Amino acid sequence: MKQRRLGKTDMYVNPVGLGCMGLSHASGTPTPKEEAVKILQEAHQIGYNFYDTAECYTGINPDGTINYNEEIVGEAIKDFRDEIVLCTKFGVTHKGDHLELDSSPERIRKSIEGSLKKLQTDYIDIYYQHRIDPHVEPEVVAGVMKELIEEGKIKAWGISEVNEDYLRRAHAVCPVTVIENRYSMMARWYEKLMPVCQELGITYVAFSPLANGALTGAYQSKNDFGNGEQDFRPNMPQYSDEGIKKTNELLEVVNQIGQIHQANSAQMSLAWMMNKYDFIIPIPGSRKIERLKSNFEAGNIELSQEELKVLDDQLDAMEFKVFGGH
Ligand SMILES: NC(=O)c1ccc[n+]([C@@H]2O[C@H](COP(=O)([O-])OP(=O)(O)OC[C@H]3O[C@@H](n4cnc5c(N)ncnc54)[C@H](OP(=O)(O)O)[C@@H]3O)[C@@H](O)[C@H]2O)c1
Repeated sequence: MKQRRLGKTDMYVNPVGLGCMGLSHASGTPTPKEEAVKILQEAHQIGYNFYDTAECYTGINPDGTINYNEEIVGEAIKDFRDEIVLCTKFGVTHKGDHLELDSSPERIRKSIEGSLKKLQTDYIDIYYQHRIDPHVEPEVVAGVMKELIEEGKIKAWGISEVNEDYLRRAHAVCPVTVIENRYSMMARWYEKLMPVCQELGITYVAFSPLANGALTGAYQSKNDFGNGEQDFRPNMPQYSDEGIKKTNELLEVVNQIGQIHQANSAQMSLAWMMNKYDFIIPIPGSRKIERLKSNFEAGNIELSQEELKVLDDQLDAMEFKVFGGH
């Protein structure tokens, strides 16, 4: 599997990265800690070497304690820390149904110490600003990142859900290595950033690349999740009756080409973006080893220009309502 370079750094990773969020956050009751640690260790055996977590990925355990995703990731990777690229994020706290944003220098300084401790490490490879804070200028955030790089606490930095103007301003102060924005067959509004990434030599990390699972075809009703109240998925527009019907129409075309490659629809959804852009890295998440394995293997699928065109033409002819939509 050909590795992909992260921005202009000397860090290279396999083409499919690992989203760790769902083990603790947004996908229902958190996976029991020991089981979650085992899943993340087995993922390393499969070949994953690009791990994505965040300070705010938390959930409530059945005994009422807080489940910190960073703690699970830290416990899992401690024996192979230097073999992976470890990413975490600052600047967001979940407050009920809204996000509290704080990227002030004081808050970033506090956050990084907490993340290093939970992750059981003394450096973070990629430190992301999780969301733009309207009260803090990009130059200020980039200035703090520059200091953290000089201090050896982080190797590089990135921004999540960024727009072009903010990215250019931040990049001018301290070069940005990666951006992490939503991107999938059903969420293509950031395609306008692809030329900017190419121009600046920035890697695009695609989060929720399976449209929160919709593109796998595994969920045929919003009642299919059954993992308790902490699951955000049943309320997402792609899981309305109309959303599922549209997804199935798309997956018919996806699966026709998938048959040629003996690939399932999740693999095809990932292969589609990796074949379109050599600077993109999807980070799908799953709590199931077999799915992690299958998703990882999508990095081997080569699609022809004709196949990509059939898929793109189909996508251009459809409109989707997806969680996080613009
Ligand atoms: N920067 C940000 O603001 C941001 C926001 C959201 C997410 N993220 C990152 O992106 C990662 C992935 O995003 P995501 O979890 O929202 O969405 P996703 O990767 O698009 O989809 C995950 C869902 O798909 C299911 N799934 C995965 N592989 C499957 C397969 N092969 N077959 C059938 N079902 C499959 C998973 O369920 P099971 O677990 O049951 O398999 C889970 O419900 C997160 O872990 C996180 O690290 C970042």
